[in-house]
Amino acid sequence: MTEQVVSPVRVRSVGRRLDRADGREKVTGAATYAFEHGEADGVVDPLHVWLVQSTVAKGRVARVDSAAALSHPEVEAVIDHTNAPRLEDTDDRELAILQDDAVGFRGQIVALVLAGSAEAAREGAALVDVSYDVEPHEAELREDNATYRPDSVNPDMETDTEDGDVDAALEQAEVVVDQTYRTPYEHNNPLEPHATIAWWDTVDGRSTLSMFDSTQGVHGVVQSVAPMFGLEPDQMRVRAPYVGGGFGSKGEAHAHVVAAALAARTTNGRPVKLAVTRQQMFALTGYRTATISHVRLGARADGTLTAIEHAVKEQSSAIKEYAEQTASPTRMMYAAPNRRTSHRLALLDVAVPSWMRAPGEMPGMFAHEVAMDELAAACGLDPIELRVRNEPDLDPETGKPFNNRRLLECLQRGAERFDWASRPSEARSLQEGDWWVGTGVAAATYPAMKMPGNSARVRSLGEGRYAVAIGSVDIGTGARTVLTQIAADALEVEPDAIDLAIADSRLPSASVAGGSSGTSSWGTAIVAAAQLFRADHGEAPDAGVETTASAADDPAADQYAFHSFGAVFAEARVNRWTGEIRVPRLHGVYSVGRVINPMTARSQFVGGLVMGLSAGLFEESYRDPRFGHVVTQDLATYHVASHADVLDVGAEWLEESDEAFTPMGSRGVGEIGIVGTAAAVANAAYHATGTRVRSLPLTADLFLD
Ligand code: MOS
Repeated sequence: MTEQVVSPVRVRSVGRRLDRADGREKVTGAATYAFEHGEADGVVDPLHVWLVQSTVAKGRVARVDSAAALSHPEVEAVIDHTNAPRLEDTDDRELAILQDDAVGFRGQIVALVLAGSAEAAREGAALVDVSYDVEPHEAELREDNATYRPDSVNPDMETDTEDGDVDAALEQAEVVVDQTYRTPYEHNNPLEPHATIAWWDTVDGRSTLSMFDSTQGVHGVVQSVAPMFGLEPDQMRVRAPYVGGGFGSKGEAHAHVVAAALAARTTNGRPVKLAVTRQQMFALTGYRTATISHVRLGARADGTLTAIEHAVKEQSSAIKEYAEQTASPTRMMYAAPNRRTSHRLALLDVAVPSWMRAPGEMPGMFAHEVAMDELAAACGLDPIELRVRNEPDLDPETGKPFNNRRLLECLQRGAERFDWASRPSEARSLQEGDWWVGTGVAAATYPAMKMPGNSARVRSLGEGRYAVAIGSVDIGTGARTVLTQIAADALEVEPDAIDLAIADSRLPSASVAGGSSGTSSWGTAIVAAAQLFRADHGEAPDAGVETTASAADDPAADQYAFHSFGAVFAEARVNRWTGEIRVPRLHGVYSVGRVINPMTARSQFVGGLVMGLSAGLFEESYRDPRFGHVVTQDLATYHVASHADVLDVGAEWLEESDEAFTPMGSRGVGEIGIVGTAAAVANAAYHATGTRVRSLPLTADLFLD
């Protein structure tokens, strides 16, 4: 791959409110989501797959009685661990389904039913009789589970960090906050449930596997699934032209993708369609682990921090490790000479946790930012002033200068917008009718990330038009639109001169739509290809000439710590009789580098704020420890914020450009909106009522005394 040193892009369409490139297809219903592909896309006469899931949390499958299912007139086959095609690589115990009789969590896939229609497959699945040798399980995260220290935390961070002498500093501190904060299990619940279409073929004597999959990264699906079937990457093709959200749950292939491929292996080339139901998503497609954060802050009487400790206990699945980096933001957020963070995992017999919007930062900053509010109250300080007094000169984690740390400006701008100056300093001092009224603030941060392994292709179509290709996926964020803008500016043409192709693993390699890294990673690759294209082919290239390139690493960037920042302000009203809590105002101010498209970026911020509000007030998956599964497995019992809960939500950003990070000047916008938001709501509820709640969600009962 040719590497190109990128230079900053001269901005023309970047920064404009370009309409969504795929908006018309989406609102008219013409956009084809994973399950919907048909004959026009080569999906002819498909069979439907239904998943049979374990009804025990741990044990062995003793027997699968398929007779009743197979006597169903439309059922074609039942596949279980005794007759499933063998996989070449079974190391990933989440993905390597039906290879043996072991059951590691309730809801695990233990059989597949193939039938001519989804309804018949579902009926068939209900007729499969699975018996188990049951073993005792442990499915409850408690203070006293045995834990272990993972080698690293997501994605590859240090498990523990330590600077100075935290214990001595806490001993000498004039003010100490020493509290435990809890966040619950949460499930991602994108609007489009997961779905996969798969079919096998033979091309030039080699097996090929094709898929339409609802995924955040088509190349990632190839990388994880192809080796399991003994395929080279070029023997597999995954497409995801439209994806109805993911929030991290489609960031990696889950077991249903392997189920579709396994089922299709048995049909002599006939395609199979598999849709994961909303209820099945609660066991099969990842979730946010619950967390228990023990935070200790030591400070002088004036609020200057002398010690910060954040010790996290959370859980992983016994069949596959996922270690959330909950204390990671604590490492870089505020100055203090003595600091310590740690992560410990309880291994439970539960479904495999995974990424959910701002994994790490979301639960971690809830703990840290409520603790900061407690410290402000203990010192008699305004919470913004407390943060001003603890602003670091250098990144406390790496010792490097921050490239562009504008947290205090975000706080100050938000304070003006929210009329913070008129806020009473005492909690429980404002009552309007039956409602206690208060306001709160929390800081937000998210690391700026660029992923390796991205490249892009630019081809001249003649007459000033260009085809630009990269295999990245637009999961609803607006990637199609902003990449078109970036390509246009990099080639110095109008956006309508760009034909952008994405979401196909046959296109140049793209990293996952995750970690708020998509625009930075893919956009930089597009700029690299465009700049090399211009260098090689000039301003008036012949039709058909093309350049594929990736961006060379910029060694100079290594000297900085790159993070985005924000400040979230909330007003909470708590009913003095019922404890009902409403959030009439929520406002975020962000520093995220240059905003490529104000419309799509605003949707990301507002969406993140709403999701944070939802976490603050509603979201909680209840796992029944007796059986090991999440019982709140639908949108009637797993509450997410709906229209009536979302009142005045606003987002704005500081004008800036971070060209040390990307040639577009952008840093990423997808996740920071959820960070700190639940803490701001909790801090506002404290200010309203004087009741400090240290766990999510903030339910009415917690405010009744
Ligand atoms: Mo996002 S949770 O990094 O897909």
